[in-house]
Amino acid sequence: MKFEKRIRQAQLGKTDLVAMLNATGEERTLLFRESARIKEAHVGRKVYFRGLIEFSNICSKDCYYCGIRKSNKTVARYNLSDEEILRAATYAHEQNYGSVVIQGGEIASPAFTLRIENLLKQIKQLSGNSLGITLSLGEQSPETYERWRDAGAHRYLLRIETSDRELYKKIHPEDAHHDFDKRYECLRTLQELGYQAGTGVMIGLPFQTTEHLADDLLFMQSFDVDMVGMGPYIEHHDTPLYAFRNELLPIGERFDLALKMIAALRILMKDINIAAATALQAIDPLGREKAVKIGANVIMPNVTPGLFRNDYALYENKPCTDENPDDCKNCLDARIQLADGEIGYGEWGDSVHYARRMERTRQL
Ligand code: 5AD
Ligand code: FES
Repeated sequence: MKFEKRIRQAQLGKTDLVAMLNATGEERTLLFRESARIKEAHVGRKVYFRGLIEFSNICSKDCYYCGIRKSNKTVARYNLSDEEILRAATYAHEQNYGSVVIQGGEIASPAFTLRIENLLKQIKQLSGNSLGITLSLGEQSPETYERWRDAGAHRYLLRIETSDRELYKKIHPEDAHHDFDKRYECLRTLQELGYQAGTGVMIGLPFQTTEHLADDLLFMQSFDVDMVGMGPYIEHHDTPLYAFRNELLPIGERFDLALKMIAALRILMKDINIAAATALQAIDPLGREKAVKIGANVIMPNVTPGLFRNDYALYENKPCTDENPDDCKNCLDARIQLADGEIGYGEWGDSVHYARRMERTRQL
């Protein structure tokens, strides 16, 4: 079948997705043109900002790819004070970013649950209820998710990392703390609790094939997620997966594959929110803008106080770690315009998909 016809089919299957991920030359151009067209038709040109607060790099888990894994003793651990977190949220609010994302290493304890609950209430208060809040705090109990929802969080990001069980096992320790089924259940719980649930995967992992990635896209579709954030895997020298660095796709190809994943996902799930991952920018200074051009509609500018950014190094060459939040803002304004976008200042920018999903559940 001709490529152009293939990518315009109503029902896309695995072979179609693999073809998209392998597209080169003219086909690659057609893919990006189609995904840009679909983006504009279904979610418009607006790009929504979520001020990202990376509030702590203390993590109880030991993922083989991650620079802040528990066993990495070379990391200076930090934990922002409540005041610092609230100041970062106030900054995001003053910049008229519609939402913040609170992200940190994974900790599960009653004290942690309570701390986040109180912070959520205070962030709501300082913004007169107007800031949207996304959490990205890993696997937690249903009760914890529920308390955080009731305190004001309405979106949650939990990347599945890969939807393939075997690959999941290869990139995580094999113990009860790194269990694929548990992660899957958490994502389901979040969705059932009424959160806008977001997931994502890393692209270009060792042992990963385009078939795996096509399955990841089908997983996102069958799970019916509202948001996706996915980016290239970038090796970190203090992690076990670094041993496989010679088996990876060259970094430029990993970047390109990530763009093709975003384009294919936009064609597959037309009305969801897709974030332009920061890892794209670590490879190409204009990485996030390129993603916006071909399908992404969310950017998460870092609003973490500059002093701590170097320590939140999940991967190497993480961008903007030496900048202060103002520098980030000024450069972003100009850059989004270059990518044919407009910024949805002061808007939550909820996913259109979520609204439709909720409407369907109400009708049932
Ligand atoms: N390269 C790219 N992304 C990474 N993450 C963690 N380590 C890496 C890495 N080495 C991503 C994971 C996690 C998110 C917070 O950061 O997907 O869910
Ligand atoms: Fe912290 Fe994976 S190392 S969640």
